[in-house]
Parts: sequence; structure tokens; C-alpha cells
Amino acid sequence: MSQETITEWFNQTYAKRGLNYLRPKEAYYIFYELLKVEKGKNILDVACGPGQMLSVAGDYQLKKFGIDISAVAIEMAKQKLPDADVRVANAEDLPFEDNTFDYISCLGSLERMINLEKALQEQYRVAKTGAKMCYMVRNSDRASWKIVKEKLGVINKKGHQGAKSMKEWSNIFEKIGFTIDKIHHDQWPTVRWSRWMSLNGALKNVNYKKIQPTMSNIENAYEFIFILSKP
Ligand SMILES: C[S@@+](CC[C@H](N)C(=O)[O-])C[C@H]1O[C@@H](n2cnc3c(N)ncnc32)[C@H](O)[C@@H]1O
Repeated sequence: MSQETITEWFNQTYAKRGLNYLRPKEAYYIFYELLKVEKGKNILDVACGPGQMLSVAGDYQLKKFGIDISAVAIEMAKQKLPDADVRVANAEDLPFEDNTFDYISCLGSLERMINLEKALQEQYRVAKTGAKMCYMVRNSDRASWKIVKEKLGVINKKGHQGAKSMKEWSNIFEKIGFTIDKIHHDQWPTVRWSRWMSLNGALKNVNYKKIQPTMSNIENAYEFIFILSKP
């Protein structure tokens, strides 16, 4: 799969579906809460898409930076966030100096990169010592991934979808030099379900800023949220 094919697939997807391709804005608060961000610092969102994650950064008084390979997505982000520094760039070659960022996020995107290790090394390079990272990544051990994607082959090859087990993700992050502070399950599917139930009067006021309890153990999570730091 070439980078051009992947980039073109994302350009077409954003042109056709716009923000509907992604989660709503409120789904992104949890990442700032887990990072325990402090106001006045800066955040780089790698593969920021049209800026959903960065659209929340203002509520935490952070300076916003983002890059994405899709020019269509970056144009949408620029329109929405005129005070953010957002650029078209490949995560494997970040256009920033060493030791620049306090926080780095990369959500639903590491599994899209051709050279994952290079992309992570770049994030390590531009992170300050003590910086914190938040990565949301797909779990290959989940039954739905194994059956639907691997066995039935409905994987989106043009969008370069992928997944790894919790152990495989952990090994890669540690190999790059990050410290793993915490691994959470992605709570958004539970929030969405609870909200749907509340329409029927069963549950109300679901707190989307907190990891919601789940019946299944973390190895079965749809996606993992890794909180890392650069020692
Ligand atoms: C599933 S979307 C997630 C977007 C955003 N992180 C969010 O959660 O709202 C994946 C994003 O990865 C971007 N992407 C894929 N490969 C990339 C690369 N090598 N460098 C930068 N961005 C990339 C795509 O253009 C797309 O915007």
C-alpha cells in the first residue's frame, strides 16, 4: 500500500463525510482528563484530521498544534480553529524542533502509518523530557477484529487499517523509550450505549469525562488508550 493511496482515501472520505466520519466533539474530553493537562502548556495532535481533538484544547487553555497527511482535513481544521498551528505533514517526518511539546496525542491513527516506528520516534524526538502522550489504538485480540476483519477480510486496506494486541503495542512503545503510565479501555462505546439507553429513560447524565466501568476485561477492549511519558 503506497502513502499516496492512503492519503487519497482519507481526502475522499473527509470530502464525502466531513465530521460525520469521526466521533462527536464531546468524545475527545476524556483524553485531556487522562493526560491531566495543565493550562498554558502546548499539545501536538498527530494525525489531527479536521481538528476534533484540538477543538477541545481551548477549554483547557492549551496552545494547539496539529499535523495530518490529508490536505482536505487540514483545510477543515484551519477553518474551524484559526488560532491553531495545523499543517499538512507526514507523521514520519514531523516539521518541529526537538523537545517542543508538553503533550502529544495520536488517536485512531498509529495503525494507519506505513512506518510506525519512525512515526513514534518522531513523536519521541519532538516531546519534551517529562512530556505525556495519549495514544488510542486498535486491539487485534478483540473477537470482532479477529472474525470480521481477519477471517471475513472486510479490513479497509486503502485506509491502511490495522491492529495489535496490548502486549504488542506495549512492546513497541517501550522499544521507542516511552514509559507506560496507564492503559485504559476506550470508554466511548459504553458512553454511546448509555446515552442511547437514557433516551429511553433508563440512564441519565453519563459522564463522558470519566472512564466508564465495563463488564469485560481490558484484553477485550475495542481500542486501548495508552497514557505514556518520555522519561
Ligand atoms: C481515523 S482518522 C482519525 C483522525 C483524528 N485523530 C481523530 O481521532 O479525530 C485517521 C487519520 O490519520 C491520518 N493519517 C494517516 N496516515 C498518516 C500519516 N502517515 N501522517 C499523518 N497523518 C496520517 C489520516 O489522514 C486521518 O486523518
